[in-house]
Amino acid sequence: MSFEVINKIEKLYSQSVTLFFEGDVEVCEHISPANQEFMKKMIEDKNFTGKREEKITFNFLENGNIINLTYAGMGKREEFCRNKYRIDLYNVLKNFNKDVLIYSKEEELADPVIMNEVVANINYNFDKYLADAKNKTIELSLFKENCDCCLKESNILEAAVAIAKDLVNEPANVIYPETLAKKAEELGKEYGFETEILDEFAVEKLGMGAFLSVGKASAQRPRLIVMRYFGDPENPEQKIAIIGKGLTYDSGGLSIKPTDSMKEMKDDMGGSATAIGTLCAASKAKLKKNIIGIVAACENFIGSNSYRPGDIVTSMSGKTIEVVNTDAEGRMTLADAITYAIEVEKATELVDIATLTGAVVVALGNGITGVFTNNNDNFKKLEAAGKNWNEKYWNMPMDEDYVALIKSDIADLKNSGGRWGGSITAALFLQEFTQGVPWMHLDIAGTVASDKNGKWYKKGATGVAVKTLYSYLKG
Ligand code: BES
Ligand code: MN
Ligand code: ZN
Repeated sequence: MSFEVINKIEKLYSQSVTLFFEGDVEVCEHISPANQEFMKKMIEDKNFTGKREEKITFNFLENGNIINLTYAGMGKREEFCRNKYRIDLYNVLKNFNKDVLIYSKEEELADPVIMNEVVANINYNFDKYLADAKNKTIELSLFKENCDCCLKESNILEAAVAIAKDLVNEPANVIYPETLAKKAEELGKEYGFETEILDEFAVEKLGMGAFLSVGKASAQRPRLIVMRYFGDPENPEQKIAIIGKGLTYDSGGLSIKPTDSMKEMKDDMGGSATAIGTLCAASKAKLKKNIIGIVAACENFIGSNSYRPGDIVTSMSGKTIEVVNTDAEGRMTLADAITYAIEVEKATELVDIATLTGAVVVALGNGITGVFTNNNDNFKKLEAAGKNWNEKYWNMPMDEDYVALIKSDIADLKNSGGRWGGSITAALFLQEFTQGVPWMHLDIAGTVASDKNGKWYKKGATGVAVKTLYSYLKG
């Protein structure tokens, strides 16, 4: 347990923190007059008023115990917002370890859900392969009288995010289609969703020619991972499919990537990690929704059996695709996953999450996920859901004129529309398979992971969109 809310202080903490709005700084009344005097003097001396990022630490002796108390400023009350609060809190707490007592007399500054998230982010380390893992963690206790808050949902979400982060952070020699499927099965048992794993022969029977072409050359054989959670049995016909791109490694195939861009391509199953994390959260929290998670997992590799630029493959939908670039592989796998969702699982709504294009990173950078949709109302709901978690989404254009760029002379479609507007033509390609079902496509190529420490998270996988999709599903 690394975060708890308490209403009685029953032990001596190694460190304590008190949070203030600017201009509202007060000295603690429960200490000796001499120490109160000392604190007042220090506050005056350092001119601590409670501005953002302002901090002051007091060390003194009280009843024979050494007290380590930090006052942290959270800025002006009128300028408070949850995102600044999340960042400032992370900043205050990130250098602590062991047990910390935290308190604020302000309701807004004593938000257990954000505190739980901040502690989870601080304590998350992907250090299992390090001989000398630092394992520096904090145990935070929020002192709050009359608190009836419940951390159950927050704990579920933080666990689900950590699952997604772990899946992405694991290297491609550990997570490949078979092991990803095994993980999904294990998580299904633990979190309460059912799983069905289809091997390449079963996938072939379904006619998923686009998906199979991508994974052809890899010794790691493809798997179709299907996860089912029926939380709304009264409306059995309503089913939302959460489809995650599951390229456990993307070398580019014969259209090979340069080394520099290849080394991050273990993250190319980030969409599937988000889908799996979301299913864990939704089923554990028993959301009243029917959800189908779908991952067409494979590895884009090179071998004598590679699919080639120039090949024409037939997708499950019957549409033929001219392969012009084997590095535009995600859309091949997603096209069949979408068709599977509609035709086999009878999904009535589709959300796909995919590290689909470098172009979306050029357009939006690392802080905003590009969304492409045929349903703007659903986008608005997604955007609103994201605001709770400071996850940002931008509604990208689906310009009909650009469809011409993915038309082929010799097949129904080609798998790349070229460099310009690359994330749009990728989305238009996917739309060709949606059969008019309400659909959102989240291009998380920029947001799946961070190559440096952020303001409220560490470098590495972010677990992007797990919380947003959970809130979206919850409605
Ligand atoms: N997985 C990549 C996209 C990607 C790029 C993810 C950077 C994360 C960071 C995808 O499969 C890809 O290679 N896309 C190509 C498409 C192009 C060949 C049409 C790209 O974006 O360059
Ligand atoms: Mn690629
Ligand atoms: Zn890819």
